Amino acid sequence: MNQSDHSFLALTAPGIAGLTPYVPGKPVSELERELGITGSIKLASNENPLGPGPLARAAIAACLNDIGRYPDGGGFELRRVLAEHHDVSSAYVTLGNGSNDVLDLVARVFLQPGTESLFSEHAFAVYPNATQSVGATARVAPARAYGHDLESMAALVTDLTRVVWVANPNSPTGTWLPTRALRDFIESLPTTCMVVVDEAYTEYVMEPDFPDASRWVGDYPNLIVTRTFSKAHGLAALRVGYALSDPRVADLLNRVRQPFNVNSLAQAGAAAAIGDRDHVRASVELNQAGMEQLTAAFDRLGLGYIASVGNFVSVDLGRPAEPVNQALLRKGVIVRPIGNYGLPNHLRVSIGLPDENGRFIDALGEILGT
Ligand SMILES: Cc1ncc(COP(=O)(O)O)c(C=O)c1O
Repeated sequence: MNQSDHSFLALTAPGIAGLTPYVPGKPVSELERELGITGSIKLASNENPLGPGPLARAAIAACLNDIGRYPDGGGFELRRVLAEHHDVSSAYVTLGNGSNDVLDLVARVFLQPGTESLFSEHAFAVYPNATQSVGATARVAPARAYGHDLESMAALVTDLTRVVWVANPNSPTGTWLPTRALRDFIESLPTTCMVVVDEAYTEYVMEPDFPDASRWVGDYPNLIVTRTFSKAHGLAALRVGYALSDPRVADLLNRVRQPFNVNSLAQAGAAAAIGDRDHVRASVELNQAGMEQLTAAFDRLGLGYIASVGNFVSVDLGRPAEPVNQALLRKGVIVRPIGNYGLPNHLRVSIGLPDENGRFIDALGEILGT
């Protein structure tokens, strides 16, 4: 094949050519290399600024000597610990290379060309990506007040709908659904349609009426709940998440899962992290203080924002956010523009350490001239 022969492009599987790749937060090293600067901060990927807790760190260090061997492909110990944590049997647990991997497994098992998945406007970008990558069609329900409008979602369910994705809370908006509304919605769906409740940020939510959908997996065979160790547990780089579902669904997900999708450091770190309540508590407290610090600053600067229950908040600049984002980058502050989520005037900022939040606020104030 010569260089000008593009005929292989016609071989592309359905959906791939039109796929917009997920845009992750820019790494600090990349920004510093590009601009020749040092001392940058990243508040762009909703990581835990404390990183992992002491129990996870010790567990990871303890298995460094074993990394010459493949991990336990069945993740026996981690699944056992997670099952105990959620008071279900291990057969309910599917491990993923991050919860993103589990979302892809769901798409591969339940979607194909000619079928549809459904999610809300402004919902997490992996839902359209996972859908399109298997050649299925994405349906987008209009949001209400930036959050999921379950009525408009229900109205778009058809005979072709196989997966409904619900982020609770959602990123990048930080909006959430209360118990009754979510449960009624799940109950209203045909059992021929899977519903994924993505609880990546659940640990951060302090609202009394915030549901824990993991408790419902025994009630609804079409419910899949996903969780991650990338956020409150501070293990984003290790890539570990999981799904809870009816064992028959877990069995299907496990059929397409790569056998060694979760490495041994991740398995050990996650198994220790799930029991480290002190670290999660400290992380949540830091997050609450940081959220107050940021939202008070937005008030002072006269900026609106979307009230968020996660470890991030999207601020409304009232004008195109991209030039402000570029100016922030030049000051060594990395946040996330979210024009690709239909929010071109907003920037999503992850809650960092107090001095990192302060640096972002000062930089933003200088750029906006207030
Ligand atoms: C709503 C939501 N779900 C899932 C994920 C996936 O995270 P991970 O693959 O690191 O578990 C993210 C990450 O940003 C997210 O915001």
